Amino acid sequence: MKYTKLGKRGPEISTIGFGSWGISGRDWGKTDDKNSIKALHTALDEGVNFIDTADVYGFGHSEELIRQVLSERKDRDKIVVATKAGNNFYPYINKDLKVSPLNHDYSEKHLIHAAEESLKRLNTECLDILQLHSPPTDILERDEPWEALTRLKSDGKIRHAGWSVQSFRESEQTHILERHNELIDVIQVRYNLLEREAEEKLFPAAMKYGTGVIVRIPLLFGLLTGKFDKNSTFGEDDHRKLNLAPEKLRAYIDRMDTFNDFFRVYSNYSPAQLSLGFCISHPACHVAIPSGKTPAQVRENTAVPDSDKIPYKAYPKLKL
Ligand SMILES: NC(=O)c1ccc[n+]([C@@H]2O[C@H](COP(=O)([O-])OP(=O)(O)OC[C@H]3O[C@@H](n4cnc5c(N)ncnc54)[C@H](OP(=O)(O)O)[C@@H]3O)[C@@H](O)[C@H]2O)c1
Repeated sequence: MKYTKLGKRGPEISTIGFGSWGISGRDWGKTDDKNSIKALHTALDEGVNFIDTADVYGFGHSEELIRQVLSERKDRDKIVVATKAGNNFYPYINKDLKVSPLNHDYSEKHLIHAAEESLKRLNTECLDILQLHSPPTDILERDEPWEALTRLKSDGKIRHAGWSVQSFRESEQTHILERHNELIDVIQVRYNLLEREAEEKLFPAAMKYGTGVIVRIPLLFGLLTGKFDKNSTFGEDDHRKLNLAPEKLRAYIDRMDTFNDFFRVYSNYSPAQLSLGFCISHPACHVAIPSGKTPAQVRENTAVPDSDKIPYKAYPKLKL
């Protein structure tokens, strides 16, 4: 495992992290907590020291699983946990819902309340990183969310201020990083072999300001492992029923064919490992955070080529 500094003000972290939405017990079909706990321990045993979560994942369940695993570790003080706030799930806790609803609230009152609740669930006095959970552009242009992060930082409730950039708005929202670069220590960005909009404006801005960059959805919800075909389907309780709906799935799989020769040339690595290697090969990116649901997935996802082995320019360009 390689380690790097998460931007000029960030902590020292592994270049492969652990995304914990997949183990949350919501939005990805049924999960088994015992297996999830084993998956998270496996990641930490393999040298991962960066975990991404959000208060809304499993309505707090992901943070609770992380607390349990961290309480069992001797290396707790070396592990960095990044959480998120801004999706007010509290009114829905006792409702029978197939997937989590979107209920944006980036008011200062809610963000501070959400941070306090995450502090309790993670059993800590200070959150390593708190990210705004993918607000739309009009909200980002208000002062309130940034005032909340500033206050949480000055009150010692968060060490680093983060912002998870809304999917497919990477260029449209770049001016926000320009405006708040002194406050924003890290951004989280959707980026993978098939989705590279962040390269246009956002990554150059992040490099200019020394912002830490966390790469999410690096396997495109599992598609880049190569395990789906055009007829794959997902259950009602799996967000991929919508986010990999038949037409989208077909289009993505057609685009993935661009990489068949590349996957053959580097067949000592699996498509998942090459896809993750791509994400961390871009000079703006510090860490990729695949969700791993099982110890086997985690072991595969942590044995990834770094840019010394396969540099960014060796990955095929995306033909659109
Ligand atoms: N707005 C935001 O801020 C936001 C949005 C999305 C994600 N995130 C963060 O980013 C993290 C990663 O994104 P993601 O979980 O959406 O997508 P992802 O990491 O691209 O895909 C994860 C899924 O792929 C499958 N998978 C993983 N490794 C595999 C392997 N080696 N072989 C076969 N299948 C494998 C698993 O699902 P199955 O086994 O069920 O197929 C897993 O849940 C999340 O956990 C979360 O922390 C943040």
